[in-house]
Amino acid sequence: MGQIKKIAVLTSGGDSPGMNAALRAVVRKAISADIKVMGVLRGYAGLINNEFIPMSSKTVGNIIQRGGTILKTARSEQFRTVEGRKTAYENLLKNKCDALIVIGGDGTFKGARIFIEEHNFPIVGLPGTIDNDLYGTDMTIGFDTALNTVIEAVDKIRDTAASHERIFFIEVMGRDAGFIALRSGIACGAEAVLVPEVHTDIKELHSRLTSYMAKKKTSSIILVAEGDDAGGAFQIKEEMKKFGGEFDMKVTVLGHIQRGGRPSAYDRYIASKMGVAAVDALLDDQRSIMVGMINRKVVHVPFNKTIKHHKELDQQMLNIVDILNS
Ligand code: F6P
Repeated sequence: MGQIKKIAVLTSGGDSPGMNAALRAVVRKAISADIKVMGVLRGYAGLINNEFIPMSSKTVGNIIQRGGTILKTARSEQFRTVEGRKTAYENLLKNKCDALIVIGGDGTFKGARIFIEEHNFPIVGLPGTIDNDLYGTDMTIGFDTALNTVIEAVDKIRDTAASHERIFFIEVMGRDAGFIALRSGIACGAEAVLVPEVHTDIKELHSRLTSYMAKKKTSSIILVAEGDDAGGAFQIKEEMKKFGGEFDMKVTVLGHIQRGGRPSAYDRYIASKMGVAAVDALLDDQRSIMVGMINRKVVHVPFNKTIKHHKELDQQMLNIVDILNS
């Protein structure tokens, strides 16, 4: 590939805290390497609608601490079509961009891979999602902040749960993965964690909670991943009633609060490190990879791999939930 003179950068899919920190790192590293940067608004939709804006060191000032994404984000239906991707390619050329950095999750990288196949255009990805469900990186940008948001909320709910001697089913995000539920469940001492990766047996859950009651544990927190096979938290509460008992049960769905807020120190750190590494990767002639971090080291993972491989949940940690409740 010839010398890179100008790159485009966008954020796509669900926003995550730390996307701004990653953007800042990309822009400032590129500028330091004499590369011009265009920001693309609203993810792939902005590529198609030609929403390019010039970025400078100043345009990314005072954003490292801000949640969300100043570039805005979207899930583009049009980019799923051959015509949409063709228009996006033409706009990249029109704006004289030689490469693209995309910050997002699984869907973002799937789009990137098809685009590269069709147009042979260099793209490097950065893992930005609260779900932490991307193969090839220990942590995604935003996961740590989301965990902190969840445990802060759960700690508060535990106060009222203990006071009223209630069982709370608290539903967290994660799409079809249980990383948020498991990690935050351990961090807030949940009595049970229900994740999509493991079949949920409501009868077993009911008898477990009954045995806790017998041991004079009068309140419990159950973390429910939204993708659990027994359904959402409301449905699980209803199912529990079928097995009788005197439980006083409540449901809280944490929802989009998990996506917002100031990024944690950890998310700002990995976003900055990986943002710089993304520009380095392009300078190193990489064309179709996600930058990740494994064992604290930056790694390059081909899009093909990160899309096809499934990131395994450490199910041993579910045993730890049980052990710590014994
Ligand atoms: O991928 C991030 C995520 O927050 C998932 O955890 C959740 O299932 C989904 O996005 C929600 O998407 P939306 O904000 O479009 O409803």
